[in-house]
Amino acid sequence: MDRIRLVGGNQLHGEIPISGAKNAALPLMIASLLTREPLTLENVPRLADVKQLERILENHGVDIAVHGRRATDQVDGQRMTFEAAEIVDTTAPYELVSTMRASFWVIGPLLARAHEARVSLPGGCAIGTRPVDLFLYGLKELGAEIDIDEGYVVARAPAGGLRGGRVVFPKVTVGATHVIMMAATLARGTTVIENAAMEPEVTDVAECLVAMGARIDGIGTRTLTIEGVDELHGATHAVLPDRIETGTYAMAAAMAGGNVLLRNARPAHLEAALAALGQAGVHVAEEAGGLRIMRNGNGLQAVDVETQPFPGFPTDLQAQFMALMTMSDGVAQIRETIFENRYMHVAELARFGADIRVEGQVATVTGVPELRGAQVMATDLRASVSLVIAGLAARGETMVNRIYHLDRGFERLEEKLSGCGAEIERVV
Ligand code: UD1
Repeated sequence: MDRIRLVGGNQLHGEIPISGAKNAALPLMIASLLTREPLTLENVPRLADVKQLERILENHGVDIAVHGRRATDQVDGQRMTFEAAEIVDTTAPYELVSTMRASFWVIGPLLARAHEARVSLPGGCAIGTRPVDLFLYGLKELGAEIDIDEGYVVARAPAGGLRGGRVVFPKVTVGATHVIMMAATLARGTTVIENAAMEPEVTDVAECLVAMGARIDGIGTRTLTIEGVDELHGATHAVLPDRIETGTYAMAAAMAGGNVLLRNARPAHLEAALAALGQAGVHVAEEAGGLRIMRNGNGLQAVDVETQPFPGFPTDLQAQFMALMTMSDGVAQIRETIFENRYMHVAELARFGADIRVEGQVATVTGVPELRGAQVMATDLRASVSLVIAGLAARGETMVNRIYHLDRGFERLEEKLSGCGAEIERVV
């Protein structure tokens, strides 16, 4: 099994290109099920999760074409076309769905277009129970009838298809917002989603749906109003840059020290995280080409953060920020409010010599002057990369085992970091 070996101590200097956002690419690919015409996506990242979703979509009858690399000096994201001329199968089987939670989201478009869906209950990162009750609630509000049968959710639209409804989410959920928004585009009448997620990836998908002919108001706000249409058509859409990858490399540069330009980054999509970095004493500056991160020898201040739905501090950067705080000059409190059990990296960070105590939702991180390289194990996607960040600053060699989680969400991680001077390699 692949591992990552790194030797800490080098500063990072140079440029890191930010890839297309995984969390937008996946729902955008799923949106292709809504129309018989081709949907072309640009800047799709090369990730294991994208590959897995391709298999799932192909099983439903989507023809997928990957267009050639362009002759530029850097590796751009992929340009891909998804054409669901006919939905040939409305079942998303366990074998395909169990490794990735977002694959459950096909339920929305299948139900809207084919009026039925049979989708295995999802798997994905083991970060808390992550139920699907809010998806089912929303779909029922659009008229769907739902049964659970042998681990599958079996959903049927009423005669004539889904109808508009009012969906008030008791908590913000990214996945269920995507699904209800997509389903509502083809429902009869008007749907209002209250307390919708306003993550930039939801906005990106909404904009793509509008380009496909959907009628959506309130994009980027907590209330989405969707007027159903009879059909959607094809479109071309570029996936927005990954704000979580951006924040991850910003924290890597902050941890190792140095001066790095994160090319294509959109600072407006991660203001809360950049503010926390600024408070920690890291120099953060927006530039025409992206975002510059600098830290030259100065100590890191301890900063408390609490994860919140967008525009708050993202849960997907919590582990990386904790890694950074392990070497601060003080005591930082990190509160995880989105997912229970998203502290699996704590035990692994302790192997570097970090001092972290967890009580309930709160992790108290007391900075230490030095981390030492260690053998560690990747547990989930974002936790894995926090171990890489710790390893960049640790004295000596670190070996990160079980890195398949990293490949699910980070494109060419070792190349991007070694290109800036880190001593990091994949060991097969
Ligand atoms: C998405 C992101 C993930 C990110 C998360 C929160 C993708 C592919 N994944 O995951 O990287 O960490 O948003 O920003 O975009 N919940 C319920 N019932 C439901 C659905 C959700 O209780 O039916 C709860 C979850 O357990 C969690 C909270 O709602 O506590 C937020 O989860 P949600 O926003 O739905 O996360 P995902 O869409 O799975």
